[in-house]
Amino acid sequence: MKIPKIIGHRGACGYAPENTLESIKTAAEIGTAWVELDVKLTKDSVPIIFHDDTLDRTTNGHGPVADMLYKDIEDLDAGSWYADAFATAKIPTLEEAIDEILKSGMGLNLEIKPCPGREIETAEAAMDILSRIWDDPEKLLISSFQHVSIETARDLAPEWKRALLIDEPLQNWLELADYLDVATINIDGRDQSLTQDLVETYIESGRQVLAYTINDPFRAKLLYSWGVDGVFSDVPDVIEQVLNTRH
Ligand code: G3P
Ligand code: MG
Repeated sequence: MKIPKIIGHRGACGYAPENTLESIKTAAEIGTAWVELDVKLTKDSVPIIFHDDTLDRTTNGHGPVADMLYKDIEDLDAGSWYADAFATAKIPTLEEAIDEILKSGMGLNLEIKPCPGREIETAEAAMDILSRIWDDPEKLLISSFQHVSIETARDLAPEWKRALLIDEPLQNWLELADYLDVATINIDGRDQSLTQDLVETYIESGRQVLAYTINDPFRAKLLYSWGVDGVFSDVPDVIEQVLNTRH
């Protein structure tokens, strides 16, 4: 699998409201090769593209996503919080988001981001939709901080590539990476305690390393110099400039 050096984070969420079709379209327009999106379930088990466990930060709705039926959230305004120009943006279903990505030809890192207690169900629902409509396994990476979600993805579609997300020191990362049979280790590249040695240890396990969420070109350059294969960025075009300069 050829993972690109830059993956648009939540679409291209530096330029459009995160995890919306507008954000996916913007990523495609600025030439992003892949996007990362977060998937979780509504109360009635519809997989939607959404980051937080509650609606409040990024919509005009309120309360936990896990308590809402899809019909109660489908018409929410998911764009005005970002800018008035995006007032018509909605929360997309996973299916709508995949349709948009397939139209653009981009690849997808789908992060399974379950509401607490729905780790298995969320992975099952996402894998069900992916298995019906995703076409190219070379352009798909499934990730999660929730190990049981990755385990479920592995059991349902062992042939699709997976990633272990790490946000704090994980003593048993190698054991987990082997057990979950992941192709990449996705680390917090902003963590100032991250060292080249640790990145090299991950690489020595035979896996690719991706780092989130990098919006500073100098940080990206340092991480690439340590052997990091790709970075997630809200502003993929800004990071792209690093790849085109020698110094
Ligand atoms: O998948 C990379 C990154 O998105 C993980 O953190 O909180 O932005 O979903 P978060
Ligand atoms: Mg994410």
